[in-house]
Amino acid sequence: EKGGYEHFMMKEICEEPAVLKATISPRVRDGQIQFEHFKLTDEMVKSCEKINIIACGTAYHAGMVGKYAIEKLARIPVDVDVASEFRYRDPMVNEKQITIVISQSGETLDTLMALREAKKKGSHTVSIVNVVGSSIARESDDVLYTWAGPEIAVASTKAYNTQLAVLYLLALKFAQIRGTVDDETIRYYIDQLMQIPDHMETVLQDKEAIQRFAAGHYNARSIFFIGRNLDYALSMEGSLKLKEISYIHSEAYAGGELKHGTIALIEDGTLVICPMTQDALFEKMVSNIREVKARGAVVLAIAAEKHLDEAEKAADAVITIPNIDPLLAPIVAVTPLQLFAYYVSVMKGNDVDKPRNLAKSVTVE
Ligand code: M6R
Repeated sequence: EKGGYEHFMMKEICEEPAVLKATISPRVRDGQIQFEHFKLTDEMVKSCEKINIIACGTAYHAGMVGKYAIEKLARIPVDVDVASEFRYRDPMVNEKQITIVISQSGETLDTLMALREAKKKGSHTVSIVNVVGSSIARESDDVLYTWAGPEIAVASTKAYNTQLAVLYLLALKFAQIRGTVDDETIRYYIDQLMQIPDHMETVLQDKEAIQRFAAGHYNARSIFFIGRNLDYALSMEGSLKLKEISYIHSEAYAGGELKHGTIALIEDGTLVICPMTQDALFEKMVSNIREVKARGAVVLAIAAEKHLDEAEKAADAVITIPNIDPLLAPIVAVTPLQLFAYYVSVMKGNDVDKPRNLAKSVTVE
């Protein structure tokens, strides 16, 4: 059932190109984005005053990326919330808001309860779910499935990539309806999205480079991730993946926050992983890398191929991803981080697919 792989997690990472294709392609027809049986009307999208995104864990990190994409393309303000916080704070939700709920399993109790809360307050709810017919899928007004197939490993991988794909499609759809971007831009992003499965293949071909890097660091006591903008959201996910299966302490910070305390944690030899996929903030990240290296950090950068030379000058090691529009980069750049967590976990002899203290589906509070 593991299809020749040693662990489900590796099998699921290797499925990413195929499942992304399955998630994106059917929704793109004649240069338009189409969602089947979608009840959310254009009028509702046009009059929407705010979007709430609610999820837990990895799905919450996907939501952080969704916020950037929706705000940038559709110019609708977005709040992203951890479901267990949202549900207990008497959230200010009304019928002029759209609530997007993200869940791989569709059974996470806090997320389900938050969905009910949003519905009760009159918000139209759209869920992004992987398991067909699950509770969250059934109870939301609209469901957009991620066609990732069964995800068995506790650490979520391919589900995250596909959640991002659906969020980008939604952001583009909303932008088209609200007229916040022109048709040419929509076509450009659709074209970029369609190239992603091929880019994923390229990233996977480079697995061994990540494995070699992991071999030098699996005994680390603490590993930090820093990034800006979408790379900050990505850093949060890379750090979570590493913690849950490697049991190494890890934290993620926004690059600009270093000076506000975090940099005190950097010692000689501390590994800092720096995604730097956002062209507009590339130089800012180079400065952040200099700051941590001056305190003894060892830096692994994740950068686009076109930035290889500059990244190599700044960091100790570089993993490249294919050149892709920065807005869509997290979908591709997360995979090296998933692979890094995987290899560290294997090298430590951990139970990769069933890490200690964790369950695949959290159906209790
Ligand atoms: O099934 P869900 O997407 O609702 O699950 C949410 C989290 O429990 C889940 O993403 C968790 O954080 C993963 N183990 C992370 O890899």
